[in-house]
Amino acid sequence: MLVEVKKNFETLPLNYSDPILGIAQRYRDDPRNSKIDCSLGVIPGHTLDKVWKPPVVERLLEVIHSKYHQSYLPILGHSGFREGVKNYLGSPLTVIQTLGSTGALFLAFEFYRSYFHSNIVVVSTPSWPNYGQIASKNGLAFKEVPYLTQDLRPNIKLYLEEIDSLLSQGKKVIGVIQIACHNPTGIDLSLEDLREISSFFKLHFPNAALVLDHAYDGFVPFSECKERLNTIEAPHFCCYSFSKNFGLYSLRTGALCVNFGKEFSDETLRLENAFKIKIRGEYSTPPALGAEIVAQVISASVNEWMEQVDNKRLEIEKMRQTFVNFLPKEFTFLLNQRGMFLYIPGSYLNRPSHDVQENLIEENAIYTVAIGKDLRINISSLKTEEEVERVATAVRQYLI
Ligand SMILES: Cc1ncc(COP(=O)(O)O)c(C=O)c1O
Repeated sequence: MLVEVKKNFETLPLNYSDPILGIAQRYRDDPRNSKIDCSLGVIPGHTLDKVWKPPVVERLLEVIHSKYHQSYLPILGHSGFREGVKNYLGSPLTVIQTLGSTGALFLAFEFYRSYFHSNIVVVSTPSWPNYGQIASKNGLAFKEVPYLTQDLRPNIKLYLEEIDSLLSQGKKVIGVIQIACHNPTGIDLSLEDLREISSFFKLHFPNAALVLDHAYDGFVPFSECKERLNTIEAPHFCCYSFSKNFGLYSLRTGALCVNFGKEFSDETLRLENAFKIKIRGEYSTPPALGAEIVAQVISASVNEWMEQVDNKRLEIEKMRQTFVNFLPKEFTFLLNQRGMFLYIPGSYLNRPSHDVQENLIEENAIYTVAIGKDLRINISSLKTEEEVERVATAVRQYLI
């Protein structure tokens, strides 16, 4: 009997290591004092056991935490959060509180699959490695198209041609676009690219349905992020994360903004009901604490928060400059990258990226992440010039 039952377990995976979170776990388990973590997309605080938070968030967290006892939130989330995010993001039809932007992406894919019969997600690669898992969890096919040309510019024509070809085969496509601080390349689409994407998806909606992923608001100037978002006129979902710019990683605070345009405003109630059904069957209701913090900051201290994120952005930019100063002249192109990662394409490495990742761990106790053929280094983790020099010097031996 037991043997029979055990047969069911044979299909369960014996090993699972996420390409990014798996490296972070190895870092935690590493006993060496000299270890440096440049793997996860997390901005550390003064001490390594804490993440950086804008001081305005830190202050509130202390106050709220001690007196926060609440019943369940409504299914679509905290009303102050939803209202505050709605005003902040230029009045989408509705805002739904989600479990980080990962949760927003999950719901967006699930919505398009269930109601618009989408069957394939198309992402340009290299990209955030989790998109494929979220697609497959929703039973969607997944296709990758190269993101960059030889000279390291976004190749948006190739991306749209691929989607066009899938549409002509009768497929219904979900396209995912990162709005700023592209993870992992740091090379963003131009405004012209965004306009082209917008026209394409506007023309083909809903057979081609657009999802924007916005995990790094403020890590290029806020005004630019806003301009980028405003360039998109096609109906879309915007998946927004408060993990990095509020430091709320573990409180899983994100938003799904429904930007289908005014012409669909009479459908808002149906849209909200559709999401209520999905959420109730998935995790029932969202957690309260992160949403309460965002609601308070965004309504009463938004300028203070923006200024603090802006200062962190400038600090990271300075780190990038210092890092590149320790590399040969040919690597000044890394200064054009934006966001928290320094991204070294495989064509600039003298051995496979996975070997570089492993050698840096074994020999230098430095944790970076191989993404495909390339190497990603979180430079916001580096606190002092000495640390930057140590990592840059170790990485330099693997550059062509
Ligand atoms: C591009 C991108 N999208 C989404 C996410 C997920 O963010 P969250 O923590 O809000 O789920 C990340 C996190 O690293 C990311 O880099």
